[in-house]
Amino acid sequence: MEKITVADARKVEAIGKQVLLQGWVRTRRDSKGGFSFIELNDGSCQGNVQIVAPGELANYESEIKKIPTGASIAVEGEVKASPAKGQPTEVQATSVRVLGGADSETYPLQKKGHSYEFLRTIAHLRPRTNTFGAIARLRNQVCKSIHDFFQEQGFLYIHTPIITASDCEGAGELFRVSTIDPEKPARTETGAIDYTKDFFHKPAFLTVSGQLQVESFACSMGKVYTFGPTFRAENSNTPRHLAEFWMIEPEMAFYELTDNMDLAEAFLKRIIKDALERCDEDLRFFQERVDKEVFTRLKTVLEKPFLRVSYTEAVDILLKSGQTWEFPVAWGNDLQSEHERFLTEKHFKNPVILYNYPRTLKPFYMKVNDDGRTVRAMDVLVPGVGEIIGGSQREERLDVVESRMKEQGLNPEGYQWYLDLRRYGTVPHAGFGLGLERTILFLSGMANIRDVIPFPRTPGSAEF
Ligand code: 4AD
Ligand code: MG
Repeated sequence: MEKITVADARKVEAIGKQVLLQGWVRTRRDSKGGFSFIELNDGSCQGNVQIVAPGELANYESEIKKIPTGASIAVEGEVKASPAKGQPTEVQATSVRVLGGADSETYPLQKKGHSYEFLRTIAHLRPRTNTFGAIARLRNQVCKSIHDFFQEQGFLYIHTPIITASDCEGAGELFRVSTIDPEKPARTETGAIDYTKDFFHKPAFLTVSGQLQVESFACSMGKVYTFGPTFRAENSNTPRHLAEFWMIEPEMAFYELTDNMDLAEAFLKRIIKDALERCDEDLRFFQERVDKEVFTRLKTVLEKPFLRVSYTEAVDILLKSGQTWEFPVAWGNDLQSEHERFLTEKHFKNPVILYNYPRTLKPFYMKVNDDGRTVRAMDVLVPGVGEIIGGSQREERLDVVESRMKEQGLNPEGYQWYLDLRRYGTVPHAGFGLGLERTILFLSGMANIRDVIPFPRTPGSAEF
């Protein structure tokens, strides 16, 4: 008796094996011939395996005939070639044991389809649905590709802190980490809250990005990456923003902006290629049920080179487009989602790397160009999502980065360790951040970022 997964039981190689399968019942129906068909799923793949439970089994009348959707069972039996269409195998059961029942009056996942909104209210059970099982497997594959890609190229995986005193993006969108009692905080003589009495003896926050710390490893070990959860207290209620999301941030010494672009393009293409090769069944599900463009989009993106367009050229294109915009377009204004999506989806119909943004729009750490007005920033925009990567060449000149901090209202005092990287053996370097959830949106065609992370955290919502 071999314990196997549903994925393995569905393969023709399993035919003839005596197996033990354990999982959750998707449906069960009685057949006229005096047996039951059970569709069993264990999350190992999109498809179910069909269990044929004969009427002769001792618990057939008392248990098997009453097994409801959602129950967990253990099945022993032999894998056989299936006479039915659409499934290569089925399992002829010699025993079916009910591990856990599921009250059909209250079990929320009955056979009918459910809206994504409803499923968010039962995020603890939604991985039992086809869509969320597929998302979980796809996320897993993307994470594997991320590590494979960097490890094969000699990058070191660095663990950057979750709790930090620095605001990497300088946007003030920080969640405070504190053990101060909000009812009776320690106060200074002037009445302000006294953070020297707080846990870290100064204000501390959840990180918005691991970049600043990973730069210190790039500036000693060459090619590195960090990959972890990041947190933003921005009040953005959009289908593309989460308060907690996962970000992959490579950082490379001796890289300039074009090297950074080349790496970002190769990286995204590797993720797509692996997903096409290893998540075929799940991508076909998304193609059928979620977004008919999945395969065409992924294959075109894979084949064509990403376009590289300066911010200034992009603004010109938008100004001449004849479109009406909710947010006005002008040199110096930030590009909004509507502008980014117009460029990548309508105008170029291709991924686009926008670069050289106005210095006023971008954080202090980006390298200032010789024109003094722009910085060596790059955003990668993809059809269906918009911005998926943000990155830059870093400012390696001590005096410039210091004055950029002041220009943006940050106190260089708190960043002395970061400035040391420019004081001692400074080198040109560059890096970027890829949003994991935006990558999953792009691959799956799902419309809402809340549906591509197991337990979404958004303004007003931290359930489960
Ligand atoms: O453009 P961002 O803010 O860049 C940084 O944080 C840099 N420090 C990265 C670096 O250079 N090492 O964020 C990078 C990416 C975005 O392009 C987007 O994909 C994702 O992170 N992202 C979010 N994803 C979900 N919800 C949010 N609120 C996000 N904010 C950014
Ligand atoms: Mg960005």
